[in-house]
Amino acid sequence: MHLSERARSIQESAIRKLDAAVNRFPEVHFHRMNIGQPDVPTPAAVLAALAAADGPVLAYGPASGLLECRDAAAAFHSRTSPGLTREHVVVTQGGSEALLFAMVALCDPGDEILVPEPYYTNYNGFATFAGARVVPVPTHLDQGFAIPEDDVLDTLVTPRTRIFLFANPGNPTGAVYGADQLRRVAAWAKRRGLWLVADEVYRAIWFNEPPLSALNLKDHEDHVIIVDSTSKTFSACGLRVGFLISRNLTLMERVERLGQARLGPQPRGQRAAIAALNLPDSYYEEVRHIYRARVDAMMDALAQIPGVSFHRPEGAFYSMVRLPVPDTERFARWLVEEFRDTTSGRPESVVVAPGPGFYADPSKGRDEIRLAAVREESQLRRAVAVLGAGLQAYRG
Ligand SMILES: Cc1ncc(COP(=O)(O)O)c(C=O)c1O
Repeated sequence: MHLSERARSIQESAIRKLDAAVNRFPEVHFHRMNIGQPDVPTPAAVLAALAAADGPVLAYGPASGLLECRDAAAAFHSRTSPGLTREHVVVTQGGSEALLFAMVALCDPGDEILVPEPYYTNYNGFATFAGARVVPVPTHLDQGFAIPEDDVLDTLVTPRTRIFLFANPGNPTGAVYGADQLRRVAAWAKRRGLWLVADEVYRAIWFNEPPLSALNLKDHEDHVIIVDSTSKTFSACGLRVGFLISRNLTLMERVERLGQARLGPQPRGQRAAIAALNLPDSYYEEVRHIYRARVDAMMDALAQIPGVSFHRPEGAFYSMVRLPVPDTERFARWLVEEFRDTTSGRPESVVVAPGPGFYADPSKGRDEIRLAAVREESQLRRAVAVLGAGLQAYRG
């Protein structure tokens, strides 16, 4: 029986790889620091809208999303990027589908997408769906994961390069690109005739300065797409509502066709998204407050462990952390399968995401792990203490 090469080549999720091993040890309390699944309660208004009845028939919705939902997203983003209307917004099934649509709309088979590395691993899968290929742009923990200078970027461009894709704030890095850096990259992308796709699914979660939306990069605005999502901001990963937004109406007409090919996203989820988008500003402050406290707790605890280095996140809720071990894949598996901290009276261990999964070349990031601050502070402090104990035991 023939199965496609395309499906085979999609890599197993680095983040979920250890799950099967974790399930073999139900007696162990695992601190899950490997998955970006927040435990913050979804706002009551969103849950109420989701529960409201749809009427006697569960009908299809429009391909690009309910007009009210597109209006709500346009109004929301117009607060920081004025002039957006429903024509600039398509509702998608999560930010994931928006990323997929962006790649399919912009790339032909064999085209290339530049992405600062380390990066969110599912970009590889979306690119494979689109017949395209991710070309990594190296960035480094010691330099705060800054985007390299133009002459370095130039060396990575080929006649097949179509997109410069970046997440801001970043997953797995927690880095936020400042306005100057973004304007420089936009000017470079314009010179090279490339689209900018900004993955802004973490844009509401920042700790120092609010990240500049790529929708405000005036000079290149006709070649910018942003991806947004209800998943992280509203702690609604299961809602599966996201947005593709661009001021380029020719592109948006193509995206509408992609939407028609899969029929519209779920109307009920979109009604819940409207409730989310209408939450007051105080909601966002609360979310930032929660994640700032968590990230601070996690990083302060990590700073106590000898030999560990990291870039303190400026946004999102992840950190790439360098450990004094040569191979974090082995170390992460050892933590799950062998290490048990019994000091609290029950066996505990910790699940981390090994670094190589966030690099195109898995020989990179071998001394790094990604940690997610998606539990409340005391649990995070305990998780990091267990990690520290594991590290000490592993190194003998
Ligand atoms: C950087 C980044 N982009 C996109 C997504 C996909 O999010 P969604 O749940 O909206 O599909 C994630 C999910 O973790 C992510 O980390």
